[in-house]
Amino acid sequence: MSTPEERLVDQKSKPEDSLDHALRPRKLEDFIGQERVKENLAILIAAAQQRGEPVDHILFYGPPGLGKTTLAYIVANEMGVNIKVSAGPAIERPGDLAAILTNLRAGDIMFIDEVHRLGRSVEEVLYPAMEDFALDIVIGKGPSARSIRLKLPHFTVVGATTRLALVTAPLRARFGAVYHLDFYDLDSMKAIVERAAGVFQVEIQPGGVEEIAGRGRGTPRVALRLLRRVRDYAQVRGDGVITREISMQALDLLNVDSLGLDEMDRRVLETVIKKYNGGPVGLNTIAASISEESDTIMDVVEPYLLQLGFLERSSQGRTATRLAYEHLGVTPPEKDQPKLF
Ligand SMILES: Nc1ncnc2c1ncn2[C@@H]1O[C@H](COP(=O)(O)OP(=O)(O)OP(=O)(O)O)[C@@H](O)[C@H]1O
Ligand SMILES: [Mg+2]
Repeated sequence: MSTPEERLVDQKSKPEDSLDHALRPRKLEDFIGQERVKENLAILIAAAQQRGEPVDHILFYGPPGLGKTTLAYIVANEMGVNIKVSAGPAIERPGDLAAILTNLRAGDIMFIDEVHRLGRSVEEVLYPAMEDFALDIVIGKGPSARSIRLKLPHFTVVGATTRLALVTAPLRARFGAVYHLDFYDLDSMKAIVERAAGVFQVEIQPGGVEEIAGRGRGTPRVALRLLRRVRDYAQVRGDGVITREISMQALDLLNVDSLGLDEMDRRVLETVIKKYNGGPVGLNTIAASISEESDTIMDVVEPYLLQLGFLERSSQGRTATRLAYEHLGVTPPEKDQPKLF
């Protein structure tokens, strides 16, 4: 049984993905896909630059591996400012946040990944910081305690989250711009694979691009990981050129099917279909049945299955659709079969 860490198609970041650093587009115009987000960002940045002001606070949300961190760096680069990177769970106490904020210069960006995981006491310090560029610090204890207000430079928070629903309403309200990143369409995925092959200096044929892009779950991070594995395969078993044939062989061997589903996706679908008769079944029940964390399923398995139209979500739980039955080669139950007359 594969653990989430071993999943080749896991959308979440793995240590080897840090090699992708060279692949990160640095300018907005080099960022492929997400056209609407890009256009809105371009306007936001241009307007701020014309006024000579920092950009408004920005929140990116969407499934892992779609480019939230990349976009945060791009905003900093386009604005020509520094970026300080942190994450919700890393900022444990208000003091940690204060230490970061007091070291920022005007215009700098503070990137907070997993912003939904900020603690309450930290959030309460963040609110006035984002709104009034002020830090309220309590000095002393008990009746003699008093609060002083420190002025902060005019900075920008860029937040990222895979779970918008878990971002508290007051925090969300403090972001002037909120952008949703969605899975990439096939054309964008192909362009991303082609560009990366260029950076890797590996020869790839159009068929190879299509296979890898098509199995990349609409997620650049996954496609880039698949590309690296196929490149290895091409080098060891072929002549180094990534053809369609080589890609298919490599990806089949890696157990990634034609739509990019792996063992874990299939186990989730099979559980719903075989064990729970197609559903509806609750997420926690599915998670328990296959001994996985429900968070993992919610973050990296379910969004893509929903996107494919393989699962439907309702208040009663998850239901497998006819498409899911077909993909697994299982006959759907009678009730779903179309009437022939
Ligand atoms: N539009 C794109 N064009 C080219 N490469 C991209 C694009 N979007 C993302 N990538 C690549 O995909 C990888 C993952 O992107 P990134 O780290 O920005 O994702 P993320 O949304 O921050 O994920 P997480 O939620 O796990 O933090 C990066 O290596 C980046 O190079
Ligand atoms: Mg990220």
